Amino acid sequence: MIVCRSAAEIEKLARVNALVARVLKELATAVRPGITTADLDALAEQRLREAGAEPAFKGYHGYPATICASVNEEVVHGIPSPRALVEGDIISIDMGAKLDGFYGDSAVTVPVGAVSAEAQRLLDVTRTALDRAVATVKAGARVSDIGAAVQSYVEAQGFSVVREFVGHGIGTALHEEPQIPNYGTAGRGPRLAEGMALAIEPMVNAGKPAVKVLGDGWTAVTKDKALSAHFEHTVVVTEGGCRVLTLPDVVVEDGRTASAAR
Ligand code: MF3
Ligand code: CO
Repeated sequence: MIVCRSAAEIEKLARVNALVARVLKELATAVRPGITTADLDALAEQRLREAGAEPAFKGYHGYPATICASVNEEVVHGIPSPRALVEGDIISIDMGAKLDGFYGDSAVTVPVGAVSAEAQRLLDVTRTALDRAVATVKAGARVSDIGAAVQSYVEAQGFSVVREFVGHGIGTALHEEPQIPNYGTAGRGPRLAEGMALAIEPMVNAGKPAVKVLGDGWTAVTKDKALSAHFEHTVVVTEGGCRVLTLPDVVVEDGRTASAAR
């Protein structure tokens, strides 16, 4: 069953997701050559706890940290470490939080200093794929419209979509129904309805789609070692579109960013 949230529940989701967005922005700003992924993780946990929230990933199936920090060919679920970032890297920072019983989840991929033109294009295409996915969301649309929008755009740009990990419903648990693949045919699967909260998270590879999980049990990497990028927003479905909770103030109506009223 996919839960439709009440107005009061949506405000709680909005609060925790706005916090996630604010902290993620600070982390992205802190990214530079020399900083370690463990430094970023410590900053993330400090900021969440200062705000009265808890890290959502720490302890989730034994995951050991507040953020996932996935560098270059790492797709998702990279574990923070004393590894220092170097100019030319790209890093995906994924963070979840729990506040007042509700979860927030968002990810961005950012360049470390100057990066190759191909790396920058991968970041641009993945971000645009997320924007296009978000633009399909409205009451009455289907779950598979989201993945179809991601796959058609990404493959037309010459990149590939990861199959093994998916987006998800979110609310009083980090992962709720439905699963939201980033590939497939439009017009299939459950219909979206007002009040559903969804975490949409395309993972895009510069090379082939295949991934494998390293011996640490978490870090997913591309099999061909090509670069990978990941962006994620949490949204709530409205009658004419959605409210992007991890982009506070952004409402999308009929596929267009229509207002910043909140
Ligand atoms: N954003 C990812 C997800 O929603 C990150 C999960 S990391 C984990 O699946 F550690 F919590 F598994
Ligand atoms: Co997620």
